[in-house]
Amino acid sequence: MGDQLLIKNAAQVVTPLGHTAIKGAAMKDVKVYENASVLIEDGHIVAVGDGAEWAKTVPADKQIDATGKTVLPGFVDSHTHFVFGGYRADEFLWRMEGMTYMEIMERGGGINNTMKATRNASAEELIEHSMDILEKMLAFGITTVEGKSGYGMDHDTELKQLEVMKELEQRQPVEIVRTFMGAHSIPPEYKGRNEEFLEFLVKKVMPDVKKADLAQFCDIFCEKGVFSIEESRKYLQQAKDMGFDLKIHADEIVTLGGAELGAELGCTSADHLLHASDEGIKALANSDTVATLLPTTAFCLKEPFAPARKMIDAGCAVALATDFNPGSGFTNSVPLMIALGVIYMGMTAEEAITALTLNGAAAVGRADTIGSLEAGKQADLVILQYPSYKFLPYHTGVNIVETVIKKGKVVHQA
Ligand code: NIG
Ligand code: FE
Repeated sequence: MGDQLLIKNAAQVVTPLGHTAIKGAAMKDVKVYENASVLIEDGHIVAVGDGAEWAKTVPADKQIDATGKTVLPGFVDSHTHFVFGGYRADEFLWRMEGMTYMEIMERGGGINNTMKATRNASAEELIEHSMDILEKMLAFGITTVEGKSGYGMDHDTELKQLEVMKELEQRQPVEIVRTFMGAHSIPPEYKGRNEEFLEFLVKKVMPDVKKADLAQFCDIFCEKGVFSIEESRKYLQQAKDMGFDLKIHADEIVTLGGAELGAELGCTSADHLLHASDEGIKALANSDTVATLLPTTAFCLKEPFAPARKMIDAGCAVALATDFNPGSGFTNSVPLMIALGVIYMGMTAEEAITALTLNGAAAVGRADTIGSLEAGKQADLVILQYPSYKFLPYHTGVNIVETVIKKGKVVHQA
């Protein structure tokens, strides 16, 4: 008998089912087991169901009584920029006074501001800072997080950011999916020379990222005033040829056709999509690309929310993620994200759960191992304080995660 853990007597065990992203109307079909238990062995789920028999064989000190509580899959935050130096609190307040995100960026603030601080930070400083952030994520129930480079935009700092994430995975429990995002902005030394900058990334940085296996994904900020559709297509295709899986920051500020490009290139996810066109939504619905929506970014930028309802009704697989970063949205509040998704974006509580678990897992290419509670999957779970998943949006903006379990081990207790 391996290392066991039994979570017993839960008022509800709630989970989407499957090993791929769930599209459209099926997103609301989460399985709700009432008065149920989850049996775990050697870090994996063995079974979900009536636990009366299991309780007789699992040692008492390996049993967690979840009476009156709800068990869900661990949350997958599939889009963040959590490794960075410095802060941009001033810029946040300038935005509140009416300056736009792009105006700040054009004046040398924004991403290039964080770039300077990140270039100047040592790897150990970045690790220390990120450890604190990851601890906060874990407390919100995030058991897997995607993190992007992109605050270096030079060879060494890009690698430093990715190496920091690799090291962090050894030091704490949150699983980290690494994305190379050198094409996050145009650094001052390449101002007005987009093509040369992208060529530098492809020829001088990407091969080293690949060689050291530092990133699974490659991402680009496809946006008016940053990288065009044509530049993004060429760049992402080159990354694909080098063996990277793809992501794209698409249609965040203006309608550019990023959603269509994401579908065309077979990106694992197309993210933001606040301004995706009807054609873009249709293209995503007809593809395997996950539409990753980032409500807290729209909220902090005072932009309209991405049309989640329309996308789900059109048949898209929608994921929700925080986009945690020091600029456009300095928050990793899962409760705030759920509240915005359900209250303002027309998502049901069930759809929000699928978006945060199985579809988040699909958005990082890991739906075969995480994102749902079923036999064979990795035992990543959260236990909520209340007897129904409905409390997630209902107890608005409040963190109700009590216990977090990663690979069958309790890693956080409120
Ligand atoms: O996803 N849009 C580009 N990247 C981030 C913002 C990064 C920053 O402002 O530092 C985003 O919103
Ligand atoms: Fe982002």
